[in-house]
Amino acid sequence: MNKEVLGIDIGGSGVKGAVIDLKKGTLVTERVRIPTPTPHSPQTLLDGIQTIIDGFGWKGVIGCGFPGVIRSQTIETAANIGGKKFIGINLAEEIGIKTGLEAWIVNDADAAGVAELRYGAGRGCRGVVLMLTVGTGIGSSMFIDGTLVPNLEFGHLKMRDKNTGRNVAAERLCSDAARKSHDLQWKQWALRFNKYLQYIQFLCRPDLIIIGGGVASKSDKFLKYIEVDSDVVVAKLENRAGMIGAAYEASKYLKV
Ligand code: BGC
Repeated sequence: MNKEVLGIDIGGSGVKGAVIDLKKGTLVTERVRIPTPTPHSPQTLLDGIQTIIDGFGWKGVIGCGFPGVIRSQTIETAANIGGKKFIGINLAEEIGIKTGLEAWIVNDADAAGVAELRYGAGRGCRGVVLMLTVGTGIGSSMFIDGTLVPNLEFGHLKMRDKNTGRNVAAERLCSDAARKSHDLQWKQWALRFNKYLQYIQFLCRPDLIIIGGGVASKSDKFLKYIEVDSDVVVAKLENRAGMIGAAYEASKYLKV
């Protein structure tokens, strides 16, 4: 049997889990999704994680993607999931206390990028590769010759909101959630997103940009409007990338 880890992907609206085959980067079980427990708090989240673990009867290592900056396994930001209550929490330790299982925590976009570079659209790619996950927020991860530069927060670059004249986090204007809540046509959204990509390109000139998250399955609606001087491709692992990458990262740091 190949090595397996339970991959969990925590998002603002759903928590997803599946057992991952690390050699193939595939799901061994079905993907389970529960709504992110509310009110958002470390306690309700830990209950949700426990529910997923129990559903699989899992007894091994857990890799967990979280939508915020993670350093030394501790949450430093949590913009789209409850904010302050999560700051300073060592989530790996808390999962250990709650479940008795060893866990490893990684930023959700870093996890998705790791998975795409190892098993998906960026497989074997060298140079500077940028992965963007465009969903509730915008996550970003960057790789230099395959090595991750962790906790890059390009979703929080400031952009001008034309309607209010204020500078706001880019993800408030260009995420998939923003597209829906501002009721934008795909073309309108794509032109905004293109400006954002051009801004990023000006800052760091990636060789390749991989676009994942909710919009990835709709690439026919927006890719034609994207004009940047990098190769742009759509992620391959769809909504599995976060779980797969988190599982893989856990296997690097914990004994599987
Ligand atoms: C967070 C990032 C996260 C992204 C996608 C942003 O608001 O700051 O850490 O990767 O959302 O979930």
